[in-house]
Amino acid sequence: MENLKARVAAIESIIQSYMPQPEGPAATVMEAMNYTMNAGGKRLRPMLMQETYKMFGGNGREIEPFMAAIEMIHTYSLVHDDLPALDNDDYRRGRKTAHVVYGEAMAILAGDALLNYAYETAAKAFPMTEDLQPVVRAYTILTRKPGIYGMIGGQTADVELTGKAVNEEDLSYIYENKTGALIEASMMIGACLANATVEEVKEIERLASIVGRAFQIQDDILDVEGTEEELGKPLHSDEENGKVTYVTLHGLTAAKAEVENLSQQAVKILDGFSKENPFLRELILALVHRRN
Ligand code: IPE
Ligand code: IPE
Ligand code: MG
Ligand code: MG
Ligand code: MG
Repeated sequence: MENLKARVAAIESIIQSYMPQPEGPAATVMEAMNYTMNAGGKRLRPMLMQETYKMFGGNGREIEPFMAAIEMIHTYSLVHDDLPALDNDDYRRGRKTAHVVYGEAMAILAGDALLNYAYETAAKAFPMTEDLQPVVRAYTILTRKPGIYGMIGGQTADVELTGKAVNEEDLSYIYENKTGALIEASMMIGACLANATVEEVKEIERLASIVGRAFQIQDDILDVEGTEEELGKPLHSDEENGKVTYVTLHGLTAAKAEVENLSQQAVKILDGFSKENPFLRELILALVHRRN
């Protein structure tokens, strides 16, 4: 995709500017926070946030602390997801996982710290704008979607249903929440900060939920037929953990068709808005063919 590299680089520098410098008695936890944050990652959530913001005409800088915050929350979710008590994975973003390098206790604390620091960071948007209302709306979304009515809800069902017979409804709940919720938050926050209407934000939530489902099914496909080199994380983690996924329920061919189908649905919703952002459209379509 054209301009993708430049956009990622711009997002990197925004994220960097909000990360803590390791110092003082708690330096180790700060180092562990930076370790996984700096390991790369596609930065998809801040990118979706920024592109949605632009689509609705946003052109301020109060989005920046929110971009850093959503990536911190996402990264915390990965650090905890990889822990021995959850998926027990040793590689992430091409590096040994935080618990392998820093020990389990420090990885738990680094995850906690990233979550908390995300809110401390997003709060920096308040003094950056005269008009507080959009920031309040955005902040409220950031408090809800990662929690029990979102990402944590999905991870809870994912953990509890591991090794059990999972039906379509369970699986949809898991995908909508463990993965969909943060993608919804990203796009909704972008829309809110650009003063989108309540109806527009609802429609963005619906679109992002579909993108999230497609994204997770593709993640499940890559867990089966990706390469560790491209992914930067272990293959067959789901199988080893006895997870039922869309791929185990329906097979690879149907899973690929569903990703394609969902991305067409998402683009159709996007095309229904009176505003447009061709890069965002291309980004959503490109997620179908992603290899990492
Ligand atoms: C991985 O997310 C976890 C899922 C929700 C599938 P990403 O695939 O966005 O991971 P990074 O941020 O690029 O490492
Ligand atoms: C993770 O789902 C979703 C999170 C909230 C972290 P997975 O367990 O499939 O993610 P990966 O494959 O480890 O990145
Ligand atoms: Mg998991
Ligand atoms: Mg995992
Ligand atoms: Mg996975």
